[in-house]
Amino acid sequence: MDGTGSATVTVTIQVNRFTPRPERPNRHFDSPFRKAASPFGSTRKHPRGRQWRQEYTLRAHPHDTVLDCLLTIKRTLDPTLAFRYSCAHGMCGSDAAAVNGTPTLLCTAKVCDYAKQGRPGDGFRRTAAADNPASGTRSLARLDSGNADASRDAAASATPAADMPDLGVIELAPLPGFPVQRDLIADIDPMLEQIKRLQPYLQADGVLATTHEGKVDVLEYLQKPEQLAKYELLSNCIACGLCEGSCPVFAGGEAFIGPAALVVASRFINDSRDDAARQRLDAIDTVDGIAACQSVRACSRPCPRGIDVGEEMWQLTTAVRER
Ligand code: SF4
Ligand code: FES
Repeated sequence: MDGTGSATVTVTIQVNRFTPRPERPNRHFDSPFRKAASPFGSTRKHPRGRQWRQEYTLRAHPHDTVLDCLLTIKRTLDPTLAFRYSCAHGMCGSDAAAVNGTPTLLCTAKVCDYAKQGRPGDGFRRTAAADNPASGTRSLARLDSGNADASRDAAASATPAADMPDLGVIELAPLPGFPVQRDLIADIDPMLEQIKRLQPYLQADGVLATTHEGKVDVLEYLQKPEQLAKYELLSNCIACGLCEGSCPVFAGGEAFIGPAALVVASRFINDSRDDAARQRLDAIDTVDGIAACQSVRACSRPCPRGIDVGEEMWQLTTAVRER
């Protein structure tokens, strides 16, 4: 069986970890000399904390996803590792992270596609599925003394055997361009705020439809299939942020509202039922709006919903110029 078949292999997951420093209680709260709170709120966007790199070696199948590996690590090796996920099927967009430096959904990234040969660099703390005095690793059996038997079994099932093929190393980091909350969890609030700013809902009066008896029944929003086709793909955006993580201009949404927000704007601008296309074009015609897009088009490649984000940015640029 080759290295990408169904045989069990060993894989090493390297994680760039981060733990925020706990807020210290203000011992001088009642002091008349304490610093007044800023009227603009906290200006610290990136919480301070401890950063380190950690490496986990475990048993996996080549067609397992990176999310599968993280769940194994969480259950059998290191319950402190933090990451976010929900559907595990590429539908919710909550598990966006950088896999080998590329913004990707953890639940769609297969181990066999991303593991690369090469030994881990220095500076990694090493954790394997079973005690290994040679590498100074530890098992969950020690971490979870309340359920030692179950923990030992789970750790044993993830323990790489000496004769297993080694598929290589996968490097994980939080989604670029966003503040980090903890380990692989990025704070995507800046993106959600920018999406909200562009009013991501239908603005239309609709047409009053009547029943056979002539009574008002429902508000209808009639549309032809070719009109639906103009924005249908755009409505599949799941706000995962992969396009923003790939964009060299986005970086937290301060200089550029970001491609995800603009894709949502484009979805409504292209919707024949929406009455606010002109106002929407005005709203993105700002210094930090579509004008900030440099047409790098790095945003197109990672979109898990097949949206050509770079092309959409170009279409918006043209629509703003021509209005
Ligand atoms: S356009 Fe694609 S990559 Fe960008 S947020 Fe939407 S689904 Fe994610
Ligand atoms: S967990 Fe929902 S997209 Fe990956």
